[in-house]
Parts: sequence; C-alpha cells; structure tokens
Amino acid sequence: TIMYAVFGDPIRHSKSPIMLNRAFEETGINAAYAAFHILPGQLKDAVNGIRAMQFRGVNVTIPHKLEVMDYLDEIDEGARIIGAVNTIVNDNGRLIGYNTDGIGYVRSLKEETGIELSGKKVLMIGAGGAARGVGYALAKEGASHIYIANRTRGKADELARNMSEFTSASGLGLDEIAGVIGEVSLIVNNTSLGMHPNEDGVPMDTSLIGDRLVVSDLVYNPIITRFLRESEARGAKIHSGLGMFIYQGAYAFEYWTGVPAPIAAMRQVVIDSF
Ligand code: ATR
Repeated sequence: TIMYAVFGDPIRHSKSPIMLNRAFEETGINAAYAAFHILPGQLKDAVNGIRAMQFRGVNVTIPHKLEVMDYLDEIDEGARIIGAVNTIVNDNGRLIGYNTDGIGYVRSLKEETGIELSGKKVLMIGAGGAARGVGYALAKEGASHIYIANRTRGKADELARNMSEFTSASGLGLDEIAGVIGEVSLIVNNTSLGMHPNEDGVPMDTSLIGDRLVVSDLVYNPIITRFLRESEARGAKIHSGLGMFIYQGAYAFEYWTGVPAPIAAMRQVVIDSF
C-alpha cells in the first residue's frame, strides 16, 4: 500500500482524508491517506519522517505551509512566488514542494462558471495568505487589473506591490469598493468572513452586487455562504470555495499518481460529509 498524508494543526476536521481515499478507491489505486496532527515544533521531524517512512506524497495545511519550505529539497517556481507549499511529492527520497491552491482555484472557477479571465478586472477582498495564491493564479490567467481591498489598507498595498510583478494591481480600503465595482467582472472573498460558526459575516455590502458579476468565495463551510446567497439573489453567478478545495486536492492527486483525478466522486464524498 502506498502511503499519503496531510500534516496540520488543527487537523481533525480536515476533509482531505475522505476526499483522497475516495479518489484512490475510484481509480483502483492501492493507497491510503491519513491525517497527522503535527505541532509547530515538530514539523522538521515530520518532514524527515516522509523520507523515513517512504510516504509518496503529503499535503501541508495551516500553520505549516510557509515553514515547510525550509525542509524540502526543491520548491516549484509557482510555490516559491506565492511563498507557500501545500503539496509535497516524494520523488525517490527527494522532496519537491508545490502549491496547488491558486491553480486549483482557477481551474474550479473556470469549469464551474465558464468565466474568461483574460483582459478582465478583478476585485479581491482580503490580503492574507490565501489572497496571494489566488491573485497570482488570476494574474497568470491574464486578468488585466486586480483591485485588492482589505480592512488593513497597508496590507492591501503591500500585496498589490508584490502582484504588480505579474499584472497591474492596486490596494484599496474596504470603503473604496463601491468606487471600483462597476469596472470589475469578478469579486473574490479571500477573508474568513462568513465561515462556520460565524455564518452571518459578509465581506462587503451586497446591495452593490449587480447581475453581470461572477461572485466567488474561498469559504466552503457552509458550502454557500451568506455572501454568495445574497449575491445570487441579485442575479450574480456564484462560485463556492468548495471547488477550490476539491481541485487543490485533484492537482495533488494528479502530481502524485499521474492519473486524472475523479472530480465528481471527490466532490460527492465531501458534500455528503457535511
Ligand atoms: P489566510 O491565510 O486564510 O488568508 P490571513 O492571512 O489571516 O488568513 O488573512 C485573513 C484576511 O481576512 C485578512 O485580509 C484580514 O484582514 P486584515 O489584514 O485587516 O486582518 C481579513 N479579515 C479577517 N477578519 C476580518 C474581519 N472581521 N473584517 C474584515 N477583514 C477580516
């Protein structure tokens, strides 16, 4: 049996094991995927354990995505630019780090909404780690300008400066969203507002949302957030964060096995687990 794992803290609510084990079952691959609760001081030993126990691949989640880069043999270019690794491939003892969050996000957004990003302006709300990966992936798809609105304006400006290497970008305060919303085709919530158990949270005033917009949320618990529900009621096309979760796992599966990920089965088992 080929072994796979996810390292995180906390980890017990992770839906990665049910999703990846379902993928192995569906494709007839003799493998098992388990969750490991790795405390911050133990990450280096845990990564060396990947080599010792010959795990073929590992996912890395909060809070280890940055620190893990110090313990790998090679970092893929996209992961280096984003500054975070969520997927490790063990190539005969050589550990290579990738980031499948941003590319997984874009693949799900395109497949589920049909949006063509090239030449489009985008509004991202939030400027944390998740926003970095999503912004980089949207820039690579040809988004012509990325507005980054954040509660802490300085962090929005800093991320916009970083992004400007890949596309035109600018930082905003949350109170400036109304002034740019008419220019954009896509709004992405990169904050945790609306996530269980604080499901009443919304990242912006949804009365500003119009029916030509695609509105996307990285939150996937609940699967449809209040932000998406209210946006859909205003005629927008909506995209749940569940897609990003499924496709980041799908890319990891494909990097590890070389087999196309069984997306429908993975999605169904995660939906059934809520
Ligand atoms: P992640 O790695 O998941 O992106 P993070 O780096 O902690 O998490 O980023 C969280 C983002 O949500 C930030 O943009 C944060 O805004 P600040 O930079 O001002 O902290 C945003 N956020 C979190 N709670 C918020 C709230 N109650 N209102 C507005 N923004 C919030």
